[in-house]
Amino acid sequence: MSNTIKRGGFSSSFGVLAATLGSAVGLGNIWKFPSLTGANGGAGFLLIYLLATLVIGLPVMIAEITMGRAAKADPIGTLQKLSPKKSLPWWLVGAAGMLAAFLILSFYSEVVAWVFAYVFKAIGGSILSSDRHVTESAFGALIADPVQSLLWQWGVLAFIGAILLMGVTKGIEGITKKLMPVLFLLLLLLCAVSLTLPKVADGLAFLFKPDFSKITAGVILTAMGLAFFKLSLGMGTMMTYGSYFRDDQNIPATTVRVMLADLFVSMLAGIAIFPAVFTFGFAPSAGPSLVFITIPAVFSQIPGGQLLMIAFFALASVAATGAMLSMMEVPVVILHERWGMSRAKATLLTIAALMVLGSSCALTNSTMASFKLFGMNMFDLFDFASSNVLLPLGGILLALFVGWVWGRDNFQRALSNQGALHNAAVTGAVFFLLRYVSPLLILVVMLKGLGLF
Ligand code: PHE
Repeated sequence: MSNTIKRGGFSSSFGVLAATLGSAVGLGNIWKFPSLTGANGGAGFLLIYLLATLVIGLPVMIAEITMGRAAKADPIGTLQKLSPKKSLPWWLVGAAGMLAAFLILSFYSEVVAWVFAYVFKAIGGSILSSDRHVTESAFGALIADPVQSLLWQWGVLAFIGAILLMGVTKGIEGITKKLMPVLFLLLLLLCAVSLTLPKVADGLAFLFKPDFSKITAGVILTAMGLAFFKLSLGMGTMMTYGSYFRDDQNIPATTVRVMLADLFVSMLAGIAIFPAVFTFGFAPSAGPSLVFITIPAVFSQIPGGQLLMIAFFALASVAATGAMLSMMEVPVVILHERWGMSRAKATLLTIAALMVLGSSCALTNSTMASFKLFGMNMFDLFDFASSNVLLPLGGILLALFVGWVWGRDNFQRALSNQGALHNAAVTGAVFFLLRYVSPLLILVVMLKGLGLF
């Protein structure tokens, strides 16, 4: 099927970078990274997250992109094409990726819904107050209102779907190329303001001074899950984008750039948020609500705060858009190329499915508040199941696939652009990590973190 379909692709080197970075940068940087770092002991957590990114994230990212570009197919098709005849059903890894995409999109689209809603609320000025109780009840009112929650979520899904309908080159590449520079500008502006606040030192110490007493196996699993989530790994996103990479793109150089730029955005987000949090006496470990409750209260106390708040939530919307595009592209391309649906039909079906599944997350704070599975509401369950189980599991299997099935020769040939790049040392090292180190590390962290041994 896939051979008969004319595939889209990224047209320029900058486009590749913008789209890939657009996928990596998202609410993970602005919402997950600060709140997880805050809740899990600051710099100790950061250090483990950095290690996980380097030793596990980077090699898996290179593996996914290389596989995608070599096969030029959707994730299921990629695993089918690259595995030798009569081998195990590796395509299931692609199918599990599609499941992970649906689970992540279900809760992610709801947080994006809040972010989009907050852009408008910031413009209207209704959430700007120095009184924590006011900002708290404004956020509470939004998430407890089933109609608002659903409508914002569906609006977000329709918006992302509309961009996807424009195709890979015009839609994904075209939009992310415009949005990524805006994101950096807004973030730098916010950091500049934050660094003028009185308690800068406390904020930075919180982010950069380690408290190792907080590190447990569960925290290490969370840090590793964050590394996967951040770089959009383990569910076929990077594989799909890899299939749109140009044949002359230098994959190791591109992935290192994306990883560094993504870390930079997380750091900037931390630098923008924590000095303000300390200056105005908020708790740094306020969890996911940090962004929605603390930020408005903080901005209300800074001159020009309303404009800055609009900038902040606009920035978050921009970041989230690129990430959502890449997540939704996974089911869309699978439905399109595996099942032969038109791209339009695949996009509409994906959105329709997400409106149903996602509503279980949109309604966790209202209609479905008491609906729990394994002691968790759907929002937390989908987050936990994807970040801490499905993505690491996908990561192990992909590393094993490259290391033991696809093999060194195929991998090195593809990663060196058929010998055009003289990078044997790099490709050899990455292969070694994929074959031995990454799978073992992921397995140990997963089993320990889930309390299985
Ligand atoms: N990397 C994105 C973020 O940080 C989330 C994401 C996960 C995107 C998985 C695609 C796939 O927000």
